[in-house]
Amino acid sequence: MIVGVPRESFPGERRVALVPGALPNLTKAGLEVVVEAGAGAEAGYPDADYVAKGAKIVAARDEVFRSADIVAQVLCYGSNDITGKADVPLYGSGQLLVGFLRPLGSIETIQEIASRGVVSFSVELMPRTTRAQSMDALSSMATICGYKAVLLAADRLPRIFPMLTTAAGTITPARVFIIGAGVAGLQAISTARRLGAVASAYDLRPAAKEQVQSLGGRFVELPIEAKDAQDSRGYARAQDENFYKRQRELLGKAVADSDVVITAAVIPGKKPPVLVTKEMVASMAPGSVIVDLASERGGNCELTKPGEITVQHGVTIIGSLNFASSVPYHASQMYARNISAFLLHLVKDGKLQLNLEDEIIRETLLTKDGEVCNARVREFFSLPALPAAVKEVAKS
Ligand SMILES: NC(=O)c1ccc[n+]([C@@H]2O[C@H](COP(=O)([O-])OP(=O)(O)OC[C@H]3O[C@@H](n4cnc5c(N)ncnc54)[C@H](O)[C@@H]3O)[C@@H](O)[C@H]2O)c1
Repeated sequence: MIVGVPRESFPGERRVALVPGALPNLTKAGLEVVVEAGAGAEAGYPDADYVAKGAKIVAARDEVFRSADIVAQVLCYGSNDITGKADVPLYGSGQLLVGFLRPLGSIETIQEIASRGVVSFSVELMPRTTRAQSMDALSSMATICGYKAVLLAADRLPRIFPMLTTAAGTITPARVFIIGAGVAGLQAISTARRLGAVASAYDLRPAAKEQVQSLGGRFVELPIEAKDAQDSRGYARAQDENFYKRQRELLGKAVADSDVVITAAVIPGKKPPVLVTKEMVASMAPGSVIVDLASERGGNCELTKPGEITVQHGVTIIGSLNFASSVPYHASQMYARNISAFLLHLVKDGKLQLNLEDEIIRETLLTKDGEVCNARVREFFSLPALPAAVKEVAKS
């Protein structure tokens, strides 16, 4: 089987789906790899390095799609809503596609992908289990985002992060407050601590407390309790507007007392809640920094302008998008590791094993035989359950 790696086309995207170091394991398993010329260049992986690991470099993008049994991308159509549509006519019927597909984004887009007959797997749907950990691209990219958020804040802040006792006096450490202690938030705590800041964090899931503390962060407790805070997959559950209103009231002091606020509070498929209001921004000391990791979907801060860095009320608000792409070498290395682990799970002895009894395959499979076949996605968009006949085909 041939795995095709097209060059990413989303504007400004610098990652690549497979890096040369991931190739030996794939070739050992009987997979050949075809890479579009220059696909890894922006991430620091020249064509020659792919060739040295046995890949074939192809100049024409459509040839990569034509020759591939499996296409591996970072941002596929769906998550690439700017240039991704151009790839749709290149998808072949029965061809496999693996990447970020934003399965809870637009059902029309997913149906468009399905109508090409492509068998697509969405990495966002990977179960959060120990077995699937090596394939969890959301966690890999969130790790990069949390790290980079702190570096951007440190660069913008007119203060230094660590406490220093010098002949010129004592400098107090920066105070970094993180709202949303998931994978990105936890990495932000570690990074801020490594730079010498005092880090604190809040999350509505009570389970986050221990994780924050284990990284040396202080957990900020608010006297409100979320209803059914966590679902079976470990994600936070959306709360009603009254809850968010109360959260904003209670978060006010912690935000005002911080030099840096990093927001990373999201719910899969939902607009992120606004947790930092314009009044809260105005209460921060001039020069403070907010990094809004939820900016892609609107943001956790009322004043975030997605895609922009602005200064409002003297506070720098970083609403940059696609943080992971700004650390392309390691983001690609981690993503490639996730994708190759998934491919090795899917292909045994050079043959595709589409075993729907397997949780990892069943839960990530998004489209097949012209249908959106993922049960979670169908339920999310209130689509009727699949007719039995299609289910049977999907099982074969
Ligand atoms: N293999 C595994 O077992 C595995 C892998 C990855 C993640 N996880 C766990 O899954 C959970 C979710 O991780 P994630 O980073 O993907 O989450 P995410 O990116 O979906 O959300 C980020 C964080 O925002 C929080 N949040 C949402 N709304 C909030 C609000 N109103 N106020 C405060 N916080 C709010 C969530 O609780 C979450 O911690 C975490 O517990 C993580 O440790 C487990």
